[in-house]
Amino acid sequence: MPKANRLLWMLLVLTGISRWNDATAAAETVARVESPGKVLAVELSLDEGRIQYAVTRFGEPLIAPSRMGFQLRNAEKLQRGFALVESAVRSHDETWEQPWGEWRFVRDHHNELRARFRETGRARRTLDVVFRVFDDGVGFRYEIPRQDGVDEVIIDDELTEFAIAPKSTAWWIPAGEWNRYEYLYQKTPLVEVGQAHTPMTLRTDDGIYLAFHEAALVDYAGMWLRRVEEQRFRAQLAPASEGWKVRRSTPMQTPWRTIQIADSAAALYASSRLTLNLNEPNALGDVSWFQPAKYVGVWWSLHLDTETWARGPKHGATTSNTRRYIDFAAEHGFRGVLVEGWNPGWDGQWFGNGYDFDFTRPTDDFDLPGLSRYAAERGVHLIGHHETGGAVSHYESQLGAALDLYAKHGVDVVKTGYVADGGQLERRLDDGRIVREWHDGQWMSNHHLRVVQEAAKRHIAINPHEPIKDTGLRRTYPNWVSREGARGMEYAAWGNPPNPPEHEANLFFTRLLAGPMDFTPGIVSLQGRGQPVETTLAKQLALYVVLYSPILMAADLPEHYAAHGDALTFIKAVPADWQDTRVLAGEVGDYVVVARHDRAGDDWYLGAVTDEQGRNMEVALDFLEPGRQYTATIWRDGDAAHWRGDSRFAMQIESRVVDASTRLPLRLAAGGGQAIRFQPLQAER
Ligand code: NOJ
Ligand code: CA
Repeated sequence: MPKANRLLWMLLVLTGISRWNDATAAAETVARVESPGKVLAVELSLDEGRIQYAVTRFGEPLIAPSRMGFQLRNAEKLQRGFALVESAVRSHDETWEQPWGEWRFVRDHHNELRARFRETGRARRTLDVVFRVFDDGVGFRYEIPRQDGVDEVIIDDELTEFAIAPKSTAWWIPAGEWNRYEYLYQKTPLVEVGQAHTPMTLRTDDGIYLAFHEAALVDYAGMWLRRVEEQRFRAQLAPASEGWKVRRSTPMQTPWRTIQIADSAAALYASSRLTLNLNEPNALGDVSWFQPAKYVGVWWSLHLDTETWARGPKHGATTSNTRRYIDFAAEHGFRGVLVEGWNPGWDGQWFGNGYDFDFTRPTDDFDLPGLSRYAAERGVHLIGHHETGGAVSHYESQLGAALDLYAKHGVDVVKTGYVADGGQLERRLDDGRIVREWHDGQWMSNHHLRVVQEAAKRHIAINPHEPIKDTGLRRTYPNWVSREGARGMEYAAWGNPPNPPEHEANLFFTRLLAGPMDFTPGIVSLQGRGQPVETTLAKQLALYVVLYSPILMAADLPEHYAAHGDALTFIKAVPADWQDTRVLAGEVGDYVVVARHDRAGDDWYLGAVTDEQGRNMEVALDFLEPGRQYTATIWRDGDAAHWRGDSRFAMQIESRVVDASTRLPLRLAAGGGQAIRFQPLQAER
């Protein structure tokens, strides 16, 4: 708003003669900020005292004026009757280093608009909104300062809206359903979305790509997106057992609401760095005790049901069976061995009912001290497992002792699990009553941080399954290394329907925008429980490059890797930590080609996956160092390969010399993929 107008507003506010409800004119712009390269702009306006924001890209509307505010318990809603008190814009340009990740260095270049609003009626409450505008996205959040009469806010609902201007197509999964985040992605016109989880990805008819998500979800409820009418969505906070959604004392701030904006699907992935940039810096200091690495484990056999979590004749987590995995890991250079079913509690109906779990001692047939020694002697580390069956307070009551036990035996990564229907997590109140919570409600956002912080004290990294969604908190707590939070490989074993060939090309442009996923690839046997895995063999290898995680499972059985030595060679070589990442090509749900630079050396890797359609393409290798020659070792689909039938195993390994000027043809079979390792030729240096 022009300075003169602003002064007038302030004068009106000060003299108390402002009559916001008299204003019948159209919304008035009160503040504006552009991204550093002037690509995006955000405008704040007041519509009869209601705060609105709008986003344009090169002047074209992307988010039409959208309302902001809160529905409160026991207080008037915080939405009407506002006037601008003051606003300020500042610029920020900083490059920071990730301890591990897809990119070693991340640039945070944005302009920030901070605006203070105050009610002008009977109530005089103050609300701050902060916008950070990057060239490839926008983040904004609310701050409620400490003020007279507002010591606490009890939020029944957040009234933030997202009125998407251009006609768009959406890729989304439903929110607020029993299976948490484990749904197949749907592609529909945006006007057919119901209530979606974030990240929700959009392509406008003009070919702009957007992804809606959030950053720094701390002490707050996760945000779902509910379509209100046409292409207008509203934040729908995950419920809490209390009836309200969030309870906080002031001063408080919400998570950042984020909108990634890019002009290609490929560029959308890099724009997800915005989520990291909107999180607080590393709070743990030196985290070199966490090492990105690959692992194997007693896992796929459980999903095939050839072994069991429960004790008995098929028990997987026995001392002798675990030794077999440790030997395999030692022989092939895998750092970790995950063992599920190592503790009491699995014998009955454990899902949605974890009261029998004991995390402080192993079952009689699992020699934890002996195995951890056996592993250590071979340079291998056991990976721990805490399946709660949804009994979260029960788990918390043992958390300290459980982590101490693992720390004592050198277990420095723990996979946690929350298998229970949405809204069915057990929480015990101080008075002993048990209530039920959602996986992404405020209470669980705090639970996960309690676990991550307790683990950090003991130098343990955490990998939750059935988690709360990733909102970039790995920046602040780098021991929160990975998570599930989508349909992983287990659905290839028993999913009905199983993961279809397009699944990973969907995940890359949706779930993976949020952060690392413990997808657990590498099923080289391509066979689930009575159903084939719907990919080619080469695609299983490509997944190691495409679906990033700093802990990467080689999920198949040792005997299956023995039968597929060619595939194992790639899995052994591929790193779990990167210097740089480039998305070379892709379309949401169709295909993606990713190149990544090994953080520990000069090698590059390429992974390409496609959906049920075979594809021929050519990629420029201009990411390679100019003037240097590389040997490209290529694991590609055989000429006859197809995800259906025995030809899914057809794989060809070949090598050729390439350099930065090479245009490399890629041929992907239907449901197929390709994995490439680029190694510099020694003579060049
Ligand atoms: C579901 C997890 O996603 C899976 O990896 C695990 O094996 C089971 N829960 C048991 O904890
Ligand atoms: Ca799961």
